[in-house]
Amino acid sequence: MKSAKIKYVSENDLKEFYRIYKDYTNGKMSLASLKRRYREFPNLFLGAYLKNKLIGIVFGLPSRNNKKEIILHSIAVLVQYWRKGIGSELLKRFFKECKKRGFTEISVGAGEGVERFYLKNGFKIRYLRVELDYKHESLFKKKFKESISKKVKRRTYVIFYLRVKDFDNKLRNKIKNEFGTQEIIFILERKL
Ligand SMILES: CC(C)(COP(=O)(O)OP(=O)(O)OC[C@H]1O[C@@H](n2cnc3c(N)ncnc32)[C@H](O)[C@@H]1OP(=O)(O)O)[C@@H](O)C(=O)NCCC(=O)NCCS
Repeated sequence: MKSAKIKYVSENDLKEFYRIYKDYTNGKMSLASLKRRYREFPNLFLGAYLKNKLIGIVFGLPSRNNKKEIILHSIAVLVQYWRKGIGSELLKRFFKECKKRGFTEISVGAGEGVERFYLKNGFKIRYLRVELDYKHESLFKKKFKESISKKVKRRTYVIFYLRVKDFDNKLRNKIKNEFGTQEIIFILERKL
């Protein structure tokens, strides 16, 4: 197969970009909101093209808390092109674009099953992000107080970030079973 070309996405391709984003990731952004972000940071939206057909996407946005950090929002490749290195090519070019713009680190919340892809691309596991119903908060705090790094309150649920070193699936499953968490994912980071 001829290798894909990684390019900045043009505004004309945003609809197709959004379609891939919706089909392949559990992203909740609206098209209008994606367009707004794109206009603000057009160089952080990249596409993989094969004969001018968009077959993969990646985009990220600056962190609100740390101006040196970029949050990798979403990456996806059409399924018929998986495991051919295109996702890694998208990431490599994305790192370069971020570095050029003065960012020094990147972080990502890995969808379940995608952790290996990020590990392969130089990310390290840092946290387990656990979304909890408020009714479980005090028991959870008691059990994990040693490893809680951060807590974020939301209207209907609370988020805890547990410090972890490895891809500890046992811990994830244990928390899932015990607390019936809404979402539990690993957060990975990498220096740029
Ligand atoms: C994640 C994704 C972008 C990877 O794209 P890709 O082009 O297949 O990735 P690469 O070919 O560059 O993979 C690089 C390495 O990552 C690892 N990897 C990739 N997909 C993997 C999978 N499903 N399971 C285990 N390891 C995987 C492998 O080690 C692979 O190297 P190898 O093929 O030589 O063994 C693609 O699977 C995808 O679009 N998934 C759906 C969307 C998604 O979940 N996105 C992330 C959350 S936003």
